[in-house]
Amino acid sequence: MTTGALDREAALELDASSPLAGRRELFDLPDRIVYLDGNSLGAVPRNVSERMRQVVDREWRSGLISSWNTADWVNLGRRAGDKIAPLIGAGPGDVHVGDSTSVTLFKTLVGGARLRPDRRVLVLEPTTFPTDAYVAAGVAETLGLELRWCDPSDPAASLDEDVALLALTHVDFRSGAMFDLPGLTRAAHDVGALVQWDLCHSTGAVPVDLLGADADIAVGCTYKYLNGGPGSPAFAWVHPRHQSAWDQPITGWFGHARPFDMDRSFEPAEGITRMASGTPPVLALSALDTALDVFDGVAMDELRAASLSLTDLFIALVEDRLGDTFEVITPREHARRGSQVSLRHDEAYGVVQALIERGVVGDFRTPDVARFGFAPLYVRHVDVFDAVEHLVAVMQSEEHLRPAYAVRNAVT
Ligand SMILES: Cc1ncc(COP(=O)(O)O)c(C=O)c1O
Repeated sequence: MTTGALDREAALELDASSPLAGRRELFDLPDRIVYLDGNSLGAVPRNVSERMRQVVDREWRSGLISSWNTADWVNLGRRAGDKIAPLIGAGPGDVHVGDSTSVTLFKTLVGGARLRPDRRVLVLEPTTFPTDAYVAAGVAETLGLELRWCDPSDPAASLDEDVALLALTHVDFRSGAMFDLPGLTRAAHDVGALVQWDLCHSTGAVPVDLLGADADIAVGCTYKYLNGGPGSPAFAWVHPRHQSAWDQPITGWFGHARPFDMDRSFEPAEGITRMASGTPPVLALSALDTALDVFDGVAMDELRAASLSLTDLFIALVEDRLGDTFEVITPREHARRGSQVSLRHDEAYGVVQALIERGVVGDFRTPDVARFGFAPLYVRHVDVFDAVEHLVAVMQSEEHLRPAYAVRNAVT
């Protein structure tokens, strides 16, 4: 994209003609904030506050324990899973929602490795999100497996017939680079290995077709582009062909075929329900279930087109206005880009803080990356335009060099 004479008016026109125009109204965003951190914590959809009031006041306060049945709390996870399924190319009834991403990763990595009991290697890539690496190390130790680190530029080169599972993060949290999900799934299958995809940074912004790619296992959080709220529970998908043999390690009563028989011995439930362990987090699931309604009627190709248009515009404006001040570490090729743009700069921490001070919210990732997420349902071209204007002003006035930003705070 060349920005040419693109001005604020032109950005507003792009927004007015977008098929997603109006979706932003479904979100309750604070005034005068340009929110480019939906790849960390999504904005709150307007319908969530009312639903939370209803769950607390009516279902919990009045219905008390009967609400497990009368308000159908017992099926909340499945309902939310069915709303996520079309976003990831999964079938209905095949997506479980309930635990944190980290706990889900433990369950799926063990479950995946157990599907290939004669193989001893888990392949991971070293730039993966830390929790994926920590959990995989714990799984390798628990099961006596070898962890093999692949080259992120060619994960397939690390595959051979010792590999049980290739576990990759689809879109990289730091750079926004995206792996070729169908191609790497094929490469894993060619050596008889299985593949697991962490979809935290794709679901809700990048179309994924798990069944079309014939993937085996997928996991993803719901608090980023799915807007489920802080700490909302993660989802897990296991291809239907593996479900009857699926053997995950936290065999709690909610994964039992008949939990209320209170049997001494464990008998797994049919299908993906066996991924469940304990009592589902009803308040969090209620928020998520309602938040997912913002995707009703959204075509995934339109979502992707909007995301690419926003990230193209951001990259082009940053380069037009600031030359080589920043190194754009996010791939230019659409096929390799998620829905964020990451800029490298020695003072990236100060840059992010100075922008936040001006109402433009992105985040910093150590050691030198400023990250900007473009949630296509509520970020507009005019926000991109305004964000870059602020970035230019920060750099020109050297606000990013303020002494206050010399000390990094842990969470931004
Ligand atoms: C790729 C990836 N995996 C996992 C997580 C986090 O796991 P949890 O939800 O358990 O904190 C993140 C959080 O940003 C992530 O980006």
